[in-house]
Amino acid sequence: MMHALHRFLLLHLLTCLGLYALGSEIINGQNVPENLMLYMASVQNNGGHVCGGFLINEHFVVTAAHCERRNPTSVVLGTHNLQKVDNNTMRYRVKTCKFPSYENVNKGDDIMLLKLSRKARLGKKVQPIQLPNTEVKVKDKSKCRVAGWGFTKTGGEIVKDLRVVDVPIVNLEDCKNKWGHIGKNLPANIICAGGSGTNKGFCQGDSGGPLVCNGKAVGVVSFNYRANCDYPNKPNVYTDVSKYLTWIKKILKQNNC
Ligand SMILES: *[C@@H]1O[C@H](CO)[C@@H](O)[C@H](O)[C@H]1NC(C)=O
Repeated sequence: MMHALHRFLLLHLLTCLGLYALGSEIINGQNVPENLMLYMASVQNNGGHVCGGFLINEHFVVTAAHCERRNPTSVVLGTHNLQKVDNNTMRYRVKTCKFPSYENVNKGDDIMLLKLSRKARLGKKVQPIQLPNTEVKVKDKSKCRVAGWGFTKTGGEIVKDLRVVDVPIVNLEDCKNKWGHIGKNLPANIICAGGSGTNKGFCQGDSGGPLVCNGKAVGVVSFNYRANCDYPNKPNVYTDVSKYLTWIKKILKQNNC
């Protein structure tokens, strides 16, 4: 009897502690099943993964403009495991198409298209994700998710397997206020989600990945507070895809940039 009670109490204690100690992932997320998020792209330079991205049709991946500094040369599609890349079938060379007025993350417009050198082979492992069709605002507190191969803790390293975490949308005014406390003015055309009021969010290496709400890619991972992923500190900031639809559609239509 005593034994069982002890065991129960110990388990209970571990479960409580575990809220913080266990499962530190994308930041407090989990592995993505092989048959989900088939639009995820690993944006790479010759040295390996530098950013996340997402496939929007057979020719283009969306990522963050600030990833251009890392000289992306290819994207990998069709695997959640970055140690299982078949260069012949999964790797695509890319040309970068940065949003024309992008200067730096502080000024916003942190979005870039990557034109694939050949058509993506769609199938059971590769499928594009839909973009929002109009400038519909994502409702506050909507349940959304972000995925990536980024660090699982501040100053960590790129992970082998794709991770995902649920993040709540943060009201834009609340977000601006929270960042305002440290004297930072956020740029226009952003969405805030996670990182604040939750211990979940993105981390370095997740840049360029999608914020997915109701099956649509509504945001692009842009920046967090001083590369500190010990949440909650400040809301995570995403580029609002719906504000760039005209530009995206133009490039998709001319199939070039
Ligand atoms: C696949 O391509 C990457 C990037 O170009 C390169 O670093 C890697 O060595 C290649 N792998 C194989 C097995 O050829």
